[in-house]
Amino acid sequence: MTLTLNDKYIKPFVDEGDLKAIQNEISDAHARLLAKTGEGNDFLGWITLPDDYDKDEFARIQKAAKKIQKSCDVFIVIGIGGSYLGSRAVIEFVKSPMYNSIKKDTPDIYFSGCNISAQSMNELLQICEGKDVCINVISKSGTTTEPAVAFRIFRELLEKKYGKDGAKDRIFVTTDKARGTLKKFADESGYETFVVPDDVGGRFSVLSAVGLLPIAVSGIDIEMLMKGASDAAKLYTASSDIQSNDCMKYVAYRNLMYRDGKATEVLVSYEPYATMFNEWWKQLYGESEGKDKKGLFPASVIFSTDLHSLGQFIQDGSRNLFETVVSVVNEEEKRAIPYDEANIDTLNFLANVDLNEVNKMAMKGTILAHVDGGAPNMLIELNDRSAYSMGHLIYFFEFACGVSGYVLGVNPFNQPGVEAYKKNMFALLGKPGYEEQKKELEERLK
Ligand code: PA5
Repeated sequence: MTLTLNDKYIKPFVDEGDLKAIQNEISDAHARLLAKTGEGNDFLGWITLPDDYDKDEFARIQKAAKKIQKSCDVFIVIGIGGSYLGSRAVIEFVKSPMYNSIKKDTPDIYFSGCNISAQSMNELLQICEGKDVCINVISKSGTTTEPAVAFRIFRELLEKKYGKDGAKDRIFVTTDKARGTLKKFADESGYETFVVPDDVGGRFSVLSAVGLLPIAVSGIDIEMLMKGASDAAKLYTASSDIQSNDCMKYVAYRNLMYRDGKATEVLVSYEPYATMFNEWWKQLYGESEGKDKKGLFPASVIFSTDLHSLGQFIQDGSRNLFETVVSVVNEEEKRAIPYDEANIDTLNFLANVDLNEVNKMAMKGTILAHVDGGAPNMLIELNDRSAYSMGHLIYFFEFACGVSGYVLGVNPFNQPGVEAYKKNMFALLGKPGYEEQKKELEERLK
């Protein structure tokens, strides 16, 4: 099995009758999602994406990745939200969070346009000095401010370094197939473009060109990634039975937790390589479910690091949370703790023990302690860190998110709340058309 959900440590917190009762709601949501009769049904292309994708474009992505690998030392991925989190999550999970520092024959990969920090921008520009650079600017709308600003800066850098024509071969654009400023600009400039399908929203787009090009540049096998997702799709779409479908079981427990006042879900990993995967998950669930004054707050921790910070709260603070632990069963990396004759640190009971074993015991001990403290735990066990398993895990959470949003009673495929800050920022920056709002905001800020 690539993935299993162990519910032993959450079951005691759930009424057996409630678990049975939620089955009907889940079956209904599962059916509506697959029949495309629910809200947001024009954004469901991700459901069949692992099989039903543009094969010619896929081949073009593989070809472009090889070209990028050969022609640069530094590859800059420009995008925000769903336009960068997925690829960064996969690269760090499958390869390493220290990908840029490890020995490899692929370019270093940096992410830009996901903040508005002058400090980060200047550091990245310094990193590029004396290096060959390629960029992939990713924006479905083609109008998002953060990546648009970063693109302007890196385009200038490339054009100064290689001339307009030379830069053209180093700029790859992923955007809507026809609409938006970016598409128009890319076509006029002659950049190679890739498509964010119309019916796939940003946070569900990691298995489209959005995620696939940067992932392929890092050397990860994108065919296996898609295969893992495809097999997961077959498994989780086939039935809605929470007893046999772990994805639906996850939906059942998290909704029952929410109804029981546990409105924070903490995604837990014991490995730093999962840090950005946690961020991807937080965006997926936060933007999909947090609306209409409803939704679980998606939080995350990396243990044992955070056992020395948020661990106190989880063990002993407000009882308004539960944990979903993602654990990889077969870790390839091993490191034994050395024997020390003097044993001054009294650690010889751990001599020759693999760090993975210590980590697993930390996990088991923590789960039991947190359960004793009143924090329910679900355990998602992933077979390994291969591209195949990663594809499976991505699909598990995406499909669960769609069904869960319908069970919660929201449209999981829009994000109206993201617009409010943008309007205020544009007004304060003096964008034409926002004059009235600017006056009003400046008044409030006095
Ligand atoms: O999930 C989403 O739709 C968002 O997080 C978008 O990915 C994000 O806002 C970036 O949008 P765009 O790709 O249009 O620049």
